[in-house]
Amino acid sequence: MEVKKIFLPESELPRQWYNIAADMPTPLEPPLHPGTGQPVGPDDLAPIFPMPLIEQEVSQQQFIDIPEAVLEKYLIWRPTPMYRAFNLEKHLDTPARIYFKNEGVSPAGSHKPNTALAQAYYNKISGTKRITTETGAGQWGSALSMCCCLFGLECKVYMVKVSYQQKPYRRLMMETWGAKCTPSPSSETNAGRKILEKNPDSPGSLGIAISEAVEAAVMDEETKYSLGSVLNHVLLHQTVVGQEAQKQMAQFGDYPDVVIGCAGGGSNFAGMTFPFIRDKINGKQVEILAVEPASCPTMTRGPFAYDFGDTVQMTPLLPMHTLGHSFVPEPIHAGGLRYHGMAPLVSQLILDNLITPMAIPQLETFEAGITFARTEGFISAPETDHAVAALIREALKAKEEGKEKVLLLNWSGHGLVDMAAYEAYLSGKLKNYELPQEEIDRALSDIEPLPKPKQYRK
Ligand SMILES: Cc1ncc(COP(=O)(O)O)c(C=O)c1O
Repeated sequence: MEVKKIFLPESELPRQWYNIAADMPTPLEPPLHPGTGQPVGPDDLAPIFPMPLIEQEVSQQQFIDIPEAVLEKYLIWRPTPMYRAFNLEKHLDTPARIYFKNEGVSPAGSHKPNTALAQAYYNKISGTKRITTETGAGQWGSALSMCCCLFGLECKVYMVKVSYQQKPYRRLMMETWGAKCTPSPSSETNAGRKILEKNPDSPGSLGIAISEAVEAAVMDEETKYSLGSVLNHVLLHQTVVGQEAQKQMAQFGDYPDVVIGCAGGGSNFAGMTFPFIRDKINGKQVEILAVEPASCPTMTRGPFAYDFGDTVQMTPLLPMHTLGHSFVPEPIHAGGLRYHGMAPLVSQLILDNLITPMAIPQLETFEAGITFARTEGFISAPETDHAVAALIREALKAKEEGKEKVLLLNWSGHGLVDMAAYEAYLSGKLKNYELPQEEIDRALSDIEPLPKPKQYRK
């Protein structure tokens, strides 16, 4: 029998995170202060983040040691297994060899705890008592709740109200880990009260929830805020995924021709691909595919420009691919991919032609998820289904071309708390959303007056 999966021993857990900023062909342009338009300094960020994370955000050091206390708790679920997808290969009748790394084995069910754990640790040693954050469908909120609990911190999650009402299970996971979860907009913050005054029935949005979480952190000295994607330090923490994957591929005796991940803010994608992009910068032939929803085409149709990270314009301006901070994506089921921006690191690497972005419509992603579940057994999160769909496209392309390609997928999370989305698909209620160019143009008109990065590209 051929080897189906590789579990690395605990001794092979990476001891350092890989910081791609040290190897970028084009350095990142700096974030700008929303008020002055000048580059932000550490002092501007200090009310929101603890200093060790601010230092990592701007670090140029190629490898950063993972603290012992974080390594010890990574061992709860890391190293994660890598599988050869023999059954899917057979079903597709492809000459491609398909591998996937299972990040769904973490207690919260996705890659998100890889950074939540590190962020909770640095907050703890910096004297933080409480962390606030926002969550949409609840993947990030549940990951942070678990990790705050492991390090003895309080956690307060502002959950978009419509999800709070429709998706009770992730909220219950947060509460099981001891976090407080409040539907947003709430009457606890100025931002929430302002929205409720205008519209008492507001269903909420990620933008509003971010404003509430940031405000709650700024108002209290012992409280800090935490973000689950987009920022450099978040992507840094995820690189344990790709470093483990490189060791596992070597044990399989293979090296990927194509590495694939879905991208919402870019963190699971970066975690898997940055170590391979390092190889690519050093001369290896490897294609890197970032997959997004056709209804929220940040990378494929958004310009590279300075924009706010949130709807209410409280965050610094980041140089990134963006659809405009007022862009409201269609209510597709992959909640984690409904974000108007993309991580600056990922955006810059797209400009440098080291990453190829691609957009896939919703129905194809669920069809792919069903094929994956019926061959490999695992039910993917709707976000992950985007990467699975791209993987299947690549496997079928290899078949057409008669090429023995090696494909590697980051399977970012399971979908066991997202079965309502599968029900909607299986009962024929889901549809694709065509995004009219006028809608993008309208949202992009908001960023016209903002400063332009040097490499501004429409
Ligand atoms: C399972 C899963 N995959 C992917 C994503 C997208 O986020 P990111 O691009 O930061 O990995 C999310 C976000 O919630 C998620 O829950």
